[in-house]
Amino acid sequence: RQLSRLKTQPLHTRPQSCNQAHTNTQKDKLWGRGYQQLSPEERRLLDSIAWPETPHVPVSLNTTSDPAHSTFTILPVRAGGQWHVGDELEALIQIRDFQGRPKQFGGDLVIARLYDPELLAGVAGRVVDHLNGSYTAVFPLLWEGRAQVEVTLVHSSEAITVLRRLTMEHPIRIYFKSLFQSGSVSETMVCNICLPPTQPLCNYTDLHTGEPWFCYKPKNLSCDTRINHYKGGFNILNSFCAFFHSEVNLKIPIQASGPHNITVLPKEKGQPEVKSSTVKPEPAGYYYQGAWRALGGATVHQFNNASAISQCLTGKLVHMYGDSTMRQWFDYLNRVLPDLKKFKLYNRKSISGPYMAVDVARNILVKYRCHGPPIFWTTIPTSELHYIANELDSIAGGSNTVVVVSVWAHLSTFPVEVYLRRMYSIRKAVLRLLDRAPDTLVVIRTANLKAMMPGAVLINSDWYSLQRDRALRALFKGLNVHLVDAWEMSLSHHLPHSLHPQTPLIKDMIDILLSHMCPQEKA
Ligand SMILES: *[C@@H]1O[C@H](CO)[C@@H](O)[C@H](O)[C@H]1NC(C)=O
Ligand SMILES: *[C@@H]1O[C@H](CO)[C@@H](O)[C@H](O)[C@H]1NC(C)=O
Ligand SMILES: *[C@@H]1O[C@H](CO)[C@@H](O)[C@H](O)[C@H]1NC(C)=O
Ligand SMILES: *[C@@H]1O[C@H](CO)[C@@H](O)[C@H](O)[C@H]1NC(C)=O
Ligand SMILES: *[C@@H]1O[C@H](CO)[C@@H](O)[C@H](O)[C@H]1NC(C)=O
Ligand SMILES: *[C@@H]1O[C@H](CO)[C@@H](O)[C@H](O)[C@H]1NC(C)=O
Repeated sequence: RQLSRLKTQPLHTRPQSCNQAHTNTQKDKLWGRGYQQLSPEERRLLDSIAWPETPHVPVSLNTTSDPAHSTFTILPVRAGGQWHVGDELEALIQIRDFQGRPKQFGGDLVIARLYDPELLAGVAGRVVDHLNGSYTAVFPLLWEGRAQVEVTLVHSSEAITVLRRLTMEHPIRIYFKSLFQSGSVSETMVCNICLPPTQPLCNYTDLHTGEPWFCYKPKNLSCDTRINHYKGGFNILNSFCAFFHSEVNLKIPIQASGPHNITVLPKEKGQPEVKSSTVKPEPAGYYYQGAWRALGGATVHQFNNASAISQCLTGKLVHMYGDSTMRQWFDYLNRVLPDLKKFKLYNRKSISGPYMAVDVARNILVKYRCHGPPIFWTTIPTSELHYIANELDSIAGGSNTVVVVSVWAHLSTFPVEVYLRRMYSIRKAVLRLLDRAPDTLVVIRTANLKAMMPGAVLINSDWYSLQRDRALRALFKGLNVHLVDAWEMSLSHHLPHSLHPQTPLIKDMIDILLSHMCPQEKA
């Protein structure tokens, strides 16, 4: 059987990781060594987001987590016999293997939500791993009426092992290219965040941020003739398919062993709306009647028409930086605001920007720029490969300036250290910006859940996003920076998970942004 060969088979042949030259004995240290050492602070941060131990990759699926054999049970209400708004609902999840035996250890990626389709209500559950094959999902009860529990196994703990191993042994599963050109001479070379020094390199490491980037040196051209950057290709790894089967064990619902729904009664007299929970972090918000309601943050208002949005944006300079999930925000504003005129710097169907949109009458300027490499969506001119931290250093800031950042999807393929380093440099630049212009509004959009396709999972799994998302939250904790919690929003919403969330979710995220920009007095 194909699975039994997993341990011995080389997963792919190219490109070589930059650590190939090193010994294989310290696999988990290799990347950090081959790339750059982490500071003690960064290491502590990584430790704080550590995922539980997961088992060795077994030879057959038999002993691995099987959503079809796993169940959840709504735990009986503790006192009074009924659920009320303000209470918490707990569901106990038991993971079993393909032969129906309870698992003995944790590390599965389980997600949960409580929802009601008619009330258009939903909230993310927080899942506690008991490290013995059982998990508890905890939900705040925030609305009156029906509420239904949904539990999903995204990855078995064995699949997590595979994802971990891939990162350790094959930190580079995507490669890039650049065209070098001078006169009639041109050459195309392979580029990456690091490259095995088997031939001369061009070193494009950014002098300000220290972000590394390399290409192999063209034979007949100099390093400064590089004119663009684009994706070379992915190394799709097929050997692990059995652990990522979209009908078997990849983002599959787990059934309830009893009822999967409850009825929530009105809040009891004298009880708070939401009791403080022992399970942290508290949810960022929830959906009710189709609208996102923030918990504990600024009240979210609805900006349902162009005039309300334009009014809020009047006099503002909005800088959007990041991947295509940020560009969706820019596109949304351009779609709904007829007076906002979009300007594309390059006269072609460039999806990487930079873009600019202006409403001269209202003095609105919205800009979008993608983050620096690695970025794999399209061909980008070398002159437009900017790191966000450097861009932030060029902003004066102030009460009319808004900075929005979303960096995740293109960095999920690389070891978390790469992401961490990138966000650290952005964090430092944000601190400098807030230092010189404390009135600047800084908003960070978190990662969201995606549709999990078997092949793409090994490149960009929700688990990879989740690791980065946790690091992001730890990194920006305590700073005067607002998060738009796309993770919880996409988990709470009834629309399917998608790398590029559908318009209603974008609208909800923009509502949060505008609510920070234009807080309104409570009526
Ligand atoms: C897996 O379980 C099936 C059914 O119980 C059994 O026939 C098969 O031999 C098992 N495979 C392995 C590798 O243990
Ligand atoms: C697993 O751990 C939890 C929390 O410690 C405990 O309540 C539960 O009984 C344990 N389950 C088993 C099967 O040991
Ligand atoms: C690349 O350049 C950076 C910055 O000048 C330098 O620190 C680094 O050592 C260089 N790396 C290699 C492999 O030459
Ligand atoms: C470099 O130039 C030489 C001499 O013109 C030519 O033979 C060779 O093919 C060129 N190499 C590449 C990679 O373009
Ligand atoms: C749960 O759902 C079922 C059908 O989906 C329904 O018949 C039942 O009344 C619901 N129970 C509660 C407590 O809402
Ligand atoms: C736009 O929305 C605002 C706020 O919700 C509302 O007061 C206003 O009447 C709406 N304007 C139009 C033209 O619909």
